[in-house]
Amino acid sequence: MTGKGTGAVGSTASVRLLVTLIDDRQPGYRQHAESVARLTRMVGLQLGLDACALENLRMSAFLHDIGSLRLPFGHVGSRWKLAAEERRIWETHPVTGACLVRILDLPSEVECAILGHHERWDGSGYPNGLSRTQVPLPGRILGVCDAYDEALSGQLEMNAQRLSESEALDRLRSEARRRFDQNIVLALSDALDQEREISALTRVVG
Ligand SMILES: [Fe+2]
Repeated sequence: MTGKGTGAVGSTASVRLLVTLIDDRQPGYRQHAESVARLTRMVGLQLGLDACALENLRMSAFLHDIGSLRLPFGHVGSRWKLAAEERRIWETHPVTGACLVRILDLPSEVECAILGHHERWDGSGYPNGLSRTQVPLPGRILGVCDAYDEALSGQLEMNAQRLSESEALDRLRSEARRRFDQNIVLALSDALDQEREISALTRVVG
């Protein structure tokens, strides 16, 4: 899929406004989205993506749950606490989100990433049950980074505990090739290792 123009909605102020609206529906979303944006950039750099792809990933990370704006119920504290029917409706949010970014004239790569961020490597995800590389790369990257940050905050699964960074990575590694693209989990792991090495060096030099 080829990109369209970013349009005015691609501006920082517009993205910030949309994140604020999503945060009203999902308290804590802003911080989560900022973390996911940082992680997707790290993975994108690790994979050698160009500046345009990195920018599309950044926008996808900030807006990945924009579809929650059109849910027919109010706050979404934790999707694991939703009733069965609400959860079924919640699982439409990637489709709704993709429709919204199309209306907003954001690049089609952003639409693809948002549509694919809950698909799984083995085809057991939603909304379309796509598997392996049927899920476009930006969607696979977004899915891994979203899940990693959810693992840190205890939102990865029902009754999940908050995990440390190493526990969260181990969890993703254990689910690679079932839930995640193992090459992207590896890229995230390498990028986090490099970040730790740089910050350790900075402490020594500083
Ligand atoms: Fe989502």
